[in-house]
Amino acid sequence: MIGPIPVLFQLLLVLLVRVSHAAQVDGGAILGCNPSQVTKGFSVSYYSLPLTKTGSCWNPVYSQDSYLHGGYETFGNGKLGSSSGVTNVSFYTGTKGFSSCGTVNALLPPNWNYDKPISLSNFSMLLTGYFLPPVTGTYSLDVAYVDDLAYINVGAGSAFNCCQVASSSSNPGPFILQTKWPDTSSSVKIDLVAGYYYPIRFFFTNRNYAGGLKFYFTSPDGVQHTTWDDYIFSATDGDRCDIKPESSTSYWTRSDSSTYTVVSTYTNTKGDLTTGQVVVEEIPTTYTVSTTTTQQWTGTETVTSTSLFTTTGTDGLATVNTL
Ligand SMILES: *[C@@H]1O[C@H](CO)[C@@H](O)[C@H](O)[C@H]1NC(C)=O
Ligand SMILES: *[C@@H]1O[C@H](CO)[C@@H](O)[C@H](O)[C@H]1NC(C)=O
Repeated sequence: MIGPIPVLFQLLLVLLVRVSHAAQVDGGAILGCNPSQVTKGFSVSYYSLPLTKTGSCWNPVYSQDSYLHGGYETFGNGKLGSSSGVTNVSFYTGTKGFSSCGTVNALLPPNWNYDKPISLSNFSMLLTGYFLPPVTGTYSLDVAYVDDLAYINVGAGSAFNCCQVASSSSNPGPFILQTKWPDTSSSVKIDLVAGYYYPIRFFFTNRNYAGGLKFYFTSPDGVQHTTWDDYIFSATDGDRCDIKPESSTSYWTRSDSSTYTVVSTYTNTKGDLTTGQVVVEEIPTTYTVSTTTTQQWTGTETVTSTSLFTTTGTDGLATVNTL
């Protein structure tokens, strides 16, 4: 007897389309570095900021975006000098001898390791360093006092690129804290992972008259530190020294792929719960369309066969069709 023989199959295939040119997007995480050799303290560069002859004599350029993003390097007489190993980021000139349109030349206090007199009434400086948190947690960067401007960036790619301070620090990302006279203090909280070296970039200006700065930090235990000994380091520039992140793959139904870095707590290959930088790669996916058909034939047994073909939808995603 020959009759209709149902041929039934159900297949579900998942097609993963990998697009080779993934877009790098900013995942918003504060990223650290892994320099091979470090020395203690911030590195500081001192810059010229001439007064003007008009109005109250201070130069309005000091808080302008173009000045803060590289303009300071060539403004006035440009870079005046540098010092290193600075772990106490404090000074106060007092008001004695200062007048609104006058210039006062003097030494910074010895904690700045800078033995050249500078016009303390009007100058800018850039501090760069790597902050090394001993424990994972929330730290607070505290501008306890500033006269006239503090502009802070934190993290690789925002403050500067890992082990490439000279070539990348003049064009920082968005600041995480800005304090400008008449505001004289501000704090910002950041989550950091123990053992990573986090780029910190601190730009300071005294536009005119007396000036001062107190830059502290508070550790996760709530203790405020007024100096940065054992927490701030400098490294020589060279090859990029980014931390090699763990990677993780996710699937989304968008047609583009994308990668970004997050800070995440996960179980590592040794089975330990750990917190660190993870690169997430998002990969476009679509599911297959399965179709079943029944055919009659003159044979005596039941036969099933599968054919596969791929179509591309209007969204550009490939779909595998199984028949
Ligand atoms: C301070 O301003 C005076 C007057 O414009 C200028 O001569 C001097 O170079 C300035 N100092 C710095 C460090 O730029
Ligand atoms: C830090 O430097 C300031 C300014 O020179 C000084 O008054 C203060 O005593 C210093 N702090 C420490 C802990 O040495």
